[in-house]
Amino acid sequence: MLGSKIVIKTKDEIEQMRLACRDSALVLDYIAPFVKAGVTTEYLDTLMLRYIEDELGDISACLGYNPGGGTPYPKATCISVNHQICHGIPDGKILKNGDILNIDVTVIRNGFHGDTSRMFMVGNCSIAAKHLVNVTFDAMWKGIEVVRPGAHIGDIGHVIQHFAEPKGCSIVREFCGHGIGRGFHEEPQVCHYGKMGTGEVMKPGMIFTIEPMINAGRKELRILPNGWTAVTKDRSLSAQWEHTVLVTETGYEVLTMSPGCPPAPDWIKTP
Ligand code: MF3
Ligand code: CO
Ligand code: CO
Repeated sequence: MLGSKIVIKTKDEIEQMRLACRDSALVLDYIAPFVKAGVTTEYLDTLMLRYIEDELGDISACLGYNPGGGTPYPKATCISVNHQICHGIPDGKILKNGDILNIDVTVIRNGFHGDTSRMFMVGNCSIAAKHLVNVTFDAMWKGIEVVRPGAHIGDIGHVIQHFAEPKGCSIVREFCGHGIGRGFHEEPQVCHYGKMGTGEVMKPGMIFTIEPMINAGRKELRILPNGWTAVTKDRSLSAQWEHTVLVTETGYEVLTMSPGCPPAPDWIKTP
């Protein structure tokens, strides 16, 4: 039964996903110039919600998201600052010089989800912070690079783990990438650690996210009393990048690219 619930998207569904994913990336392009010292994460969230609804005509998938009947997520986006790993809830916290933050946007366009996140650096960041952000970006692309029909989902985690761990970073275990489409979190789970040749076999038409969360210190996390936000237990910095990726006949297509999105590293061969 392994992999039996993975939705293979039709040509039309893929076209809808291209549009939803492009929109999620456009939200990050839009917000980038506003990310600077002195603004609150709540202000950024308000701007993004307005852009999602009024400019794109989309819906935030995060606002009110309530998987398994827990506390509904209260904001339109996730903004995770410094030692926050993911699901940071935008609030009155003021960004300051040297902060690193992840902004994670998931929109629903015409019933289809697009999910992407990027790191932002405020002013002058430490060499250690820049290193973590860059290692995590390259780790995501290492994972993307192995996507093709016949590869296994576990190959993604294997290459990410073997890239990031020797660089002194640790990989978060509790949160994984995921299939995505009409559902926000579909099968398969795409872990960012693992073994070559394990997990489901990739087939053309599968769409999933690759979104490694990587810590400068230890991998352990705790969840804040708000029920959502994951932070590093040792309070070390954490970084994350996320793309939504389609398995094509010959390799992959990254659906969440946009004009303002950082290009693939130069060691990536265009598929
Ligand atoms: N966008 C996140 C992901 O990549 C999920 C956020 S769920 C929320 O899977 F409710 F916290 F917004
Ligand atoms: Co995701
Ligand atoms: Co996301």
